[in-house]
Amino acid sequence: MEHRNTGKTVSPASRLATPTDLEPAEVRAVVEAVNPLIADAVALYLKTKNYHWHLSGPRFREYHLLFDEQAEAILASVDVLAERVRKIGGTTIRGVSHVSELRTIADDNDDFVPAGEMVRRLLENNRRMAERQRAAISVCEENRDTPTGNVLQEILDETERRVWFLYEISQRDESPGSPAGGNDHHRRAREAQYSDWSLYAIPEAGEDPSPRA
Ligand SMILES: [Fe+2]
Repeated sequence: MEHRNTGKTVSPASRLATPTDLEPAEVRAVVEAVNPLIADAVALYLKTKNYHWHLSGPRFREYHLLFDEQAEAILASVDVLAERVRKIGGTTIRGVSHVSELRTIADDNDDFVPAGEMVRRLLENNRRMAERQRAAISVCEENRDTPTGNVLQEILDETERRVWFLYEISQRDESPGSPAGGNDHHRRAREAQYSDWSLYAIPEAGEDPSPRA
């Protein structure tokens, strides 16, 4: 408890009640929609970094860089959303236990996750995240909090970008023999074929010019 010059007793919680013209019920609705998104962003940030750190396989560099880029975008959303909550007088995430309480995205503590499976799991998590962000935008609109809705639209756009990239990568990994190089067996077979240069040798004078193979 804290005493101000007025002599009135002010609780620490009311010290955080930033003035707003929104009704308390409107603030509550927005805060209850946004805080779980922040918790999910923290959880997904760590999960994406987990994959960035524990990746293995022929596409190491490509996925390592992609996961890092995606983790940065997820992390950037945390502060923006938390500050929106404070701007309307709500309180937000306090620590890791608070994140655990509110998040919907599960940790991945598997010892080893194949690269393609990482992409599949992140795709699913980001797809669900987009769904929840879109629902929160509706809550903001219904409760006159246009700025939080606008911020969330940009964050949703970033989430959809991640979904798009992960989806395209998962398609490539699932299409055998695709020219994008999804199937190493077919690629190696093509390379072996073109590396047999005797097939393309220029015939000597008087030699039969028909292909040797
Ligand atoms: Fe790194």
